[in-house]
Amino acid sequence: PTQVRAICCIGAGYVGGPTCSVIALKCPHIKVTIVDVNPVRIAAWNSDVLPVFEPGLDEVVHECRGRNLFFSTDIDAAIQEADLIFVSVNTPTKTSGVGKGFAADLHYVEASTRRIASVATSSKIIVEKSTVPCRTAASMRTILESNSSYTADGTLISFQILSNPEFLAEGTAIRDLLAPDRVLIGSLDTSQGKAAAKALSEVYQNWVNPSKIYETGLWSSELSKLAANALLAQRISSINSLSAICEATGADVDEVAHACGLDARIGPKFLKASVGFGGSCFQKDILNLVYLSESLGLSEVADYWHQVIKMNEYSKERFARKVVSTLFNTITMKKIAVLGFAFKKDTGDTRESAAITLCKYFRQERALISIYDPKVTTNQIMLDLTEPGVVDDAEQVKKQVTIAKSMKEACVDAEAVIICTEWDEFRDASPQDWAEIYASMKKPAFAFDGRGVVDAKILRAVGFKVHTVGKGPLIVDPIWA
Ligand code: NAI
Repeated sequence: PTQVRAICCIGAGYVGGPTCSVIALKCPHIKVTIVDVNPVRIAAWNSDVLPVFEPGLDEVVHECRGRNLFFSTDIDAAIQEADLIFVSVNTPTKTSGVGKGFAADLHYVEASTRRIASVATSSKIIVEKSTVPCRTAASMRTILESNSSYTADGTLISFQILSNPEFLAEGTAIRDLLAPDRVLIGSLDTSQGKAAAKALSEVYQNWVNPSKIYETGLWSSELSKLAANALLAQRISSINSLSAICEATGADVDEVAHACGLDARIGPKFLKASVGFGGSCFQKDILNLVYLSESLGLSEVADYWHQVIKMNEYSKERFARKVVSTLFNTITMKKIAVLGFAFKKDTGDTRESAAITLCKYFRQERALISIYDPKVTTNQIMLDLTEPGVVDDAEQVKKQVTIAKSMKEACVDAEAVIICTEWDEFRDASPQDWAEIYASMKKPAFAFDGRGVVDAKILRAVGFKVHTVGKGPLIVDPIWA
């Protein structure tokens, strides 16, 4: 097909949901059906409380749902109807078998591919939206070609495979989708491959300027997604490594970042020091890149990128140790208020959130933890903290952890308040709010800003002892020396 009339998206997650909702919004002439094996998720997409929180998403879904946007568990019907199918399923890090802890688990991608091959009754364009290791498209193609059947009139069903990685960032997904920096489309260098790329490109051209659409070979496209995430995460680990030097010397990491960012070759973005990055992608995709490099016999390359992850682990641990050492080397039975549990602001997603690692550490030190997050549900927090691998005694977690309904409630009787997520609500709290929080806490009251969001001067003025990531001890009172 050269003109796309019906799109199916397999996987109604953080990527498939928002991405294909925006396609439906911008292409009213295309019927978009988003399917998933998880009926609870599909029911939520069809309800008033969407399963994914993203600023602007509710409005997009409400405008299109029932018009040309549908959420369904009838995967086969949607596959049959579509000219173009996005595969947007999860690709987590393998937890067992070969490549355990590094390689991507492609089981869900393969299952979707086999399903397409077995139920398709006409030719289709298959688009890899999931982040996959380089050359996954080749495996998908083999599966499709070895399993494809004939149409009713006897012609062989053909499948064209494209790579179209998603570059949206959670928290700004709708903005990113409406005005992408670029849309990357990888195809085989054949006339059918190019025609398929053109068909997908035309879908995007309903709202994206053609100059932003970049067509490449399949393997470049697949690798570019891993490369982009590795480079982004590397910047965070780089500034976080410098934040350790800042704390030890009295330099200020914000000043260092600003000074460096003024160099046009470096640029100012993505140089914010923090307790460490989280999210479902950075770690997974770098581990994937490390595994790919190892498999190609490039162990120096693998070691190089692995260091980005190790530095991130070190950042979280260094911050947690700072909390314990500052609280006179023990937090046993002390109440610690944790503000923010999502991995970043404006999302309810907690996957690989730094808060999970910090809470685990505090729990092992036998602290009592009170957590507040404006978007993450109590259920999700408890699930994350009692997951096998994070903890071996789920009952004990329930004794040590409570969930608060507001930042003020979380801080009552706490010895320290720890900011883990850069929610605006924390940044915008007034001096009066902080004064009230201070008054309700045990003294001395400590504040640890893991995201550099609050004005330390305001907190100090109301009485807090403040530690901000990457801000040296020399300018603060002697307790930090
Ligand atoms: P997710 O876990 O939120 O969603 C994946 C969905 O696929 C789940 O709802 C699952 O039930 C469904 N699924 C799995 N196997 C299926 C099958 N055989 N048939 C039908 N549905 C199936 O994952 P998320 O975050 O949307 O990520 C999807 C992919 O996009 C991953 O490869 C990820 O690396 C990539 N990505 C994620 C970004 C993010 O910010 N979350 C950004 C860019 C890419």
